[in-house]
Amino acid sequence: MSETKQTDNLVSVRDLVVEFTTDGSVVHAVNGVSFDINKGETLGLVGETGAGKTTIAKAILGILPDPPAKVRNGSITFEGQDLLSLPEKEMRKVRGKRISMIFQDPMTALNPIFTVGDQIAEAILLHEKMSKAESEKRAVDMLELVGIPGERCKEYPHQFSGGMKQRVVIAMALACNPELLLADEPTTALDVTIQAQVLEMMANLKEKLNTSVLMITHDLGIVAEMCDKVAVIYAGEIVEIGLAEDIFDRATHPYTKGLFGSLPSLKSHEKRLHPITGMVPDPTNLPEGCKFSPRCKYADEGCRCQAIPLHDLGNGHLVRCRKEGGEK
Ligand SMILES: Nc1ncnc2c1ncn2[C@@H]1O[C@H](COP(=O)(O)OP(=O)(O)O)[C@@H](O)[C@H]1O
Ligand SMILES: [Mg+2]
Repeated sequence: MSETKQTDNLVSVRDLVVEFTTDGSVVHAVNGVSFDINKGETLGLVGETGAGKTTIAKAILGILPDPPAKVRNGSITFEGQDLLSLPEKEMRKVRGKRISMIFQDPMTALNPIFTVGDQIAEAILLHEKMSKAESEKRAVDMLELVGIPGERCKEYPHQFSGGMKQRVVIAMALACNPELLLADEPTTALDVTIQAQVLEMMANLKEKLNTSVLMITHDLGIVAEMCDKVAVIYAGEIVEIGLAEDIFDRATHPYTKGLFGSLPSLKSHEKRLHPITGMVPDPTNLPEGCKFSPRCKYADEGCRCQAIPLHDLGNGHLVRCRKEGGEK
């Protein structure tokens, strides 16, 4: 046994700030986001469209287009290495090998002119020292792992249904046994039965390979089934984060309550996030103070004039609200 105790932490995001500059205006997409994911753990990232979820995942993978994207602040530490300062050459060894991403639309990741077997084999060859024949064999194994008969490796993406394409993408993402999987609404494009199959498959694989997952989703059923922790993101800020059971049973931020509050418990069958009245603020012109205050029925002057820090409720449960748990 080694003297130094191994830490459980796999990735730490600290004070991440990302902006997009287009036509002279600045979109404040991510505004000081911090979270940790431990080994084997799944963190759910939930929030409305435009909240900054995909931008966070792309920042971790180092695939934000610059321009228009700029990481203005923060660090992303992966196994002790700051990914943001890693040269692109080094990052290429991490991307697809140690960290991989499943995009919402499977065709983002699949090339229509190559067979799926070749594409998975290619992803493997890029990172693993093996022969072409070995990589092809591994590609067939990966297809079978996600429930697709191996002989279909000779087929092209258009010969697969939407659900099958997403399985291929998952096979590709998992082909090099990544330590961290960024799953960006991985089942949104799929119908409900296929969704359930893909999720079950992901849960089994996660168990087998001890992969950590950042699970971006709108689906509370997925959060309840898959996530150990949940971060609720609003206008590029985490407004509440904690263990899944605390978020479901003790939602504290008015925004989280709106999303989760109508659910009786973690076991609820209700699937979708509840819409909340009002609009997400314009990311080029965010409100001062609490960014949720224009939609919040509890907000007062004090909420609107100052930035609201995260308040620690204990047990890793943090909330960004003056009214609930914070200073009055
Ligand atoms: N390439 C881009 N150029 C300009 N703005 C972008 C780009 N990508 C995302 N954004 C903006 O950044 C904000 C966050 O987007 P995104 O991370 O995609 O949110 P989510 O995944 O939560 O729906 C949005 O306002 C979006 O319009
Ligand atoms: Mg997105």
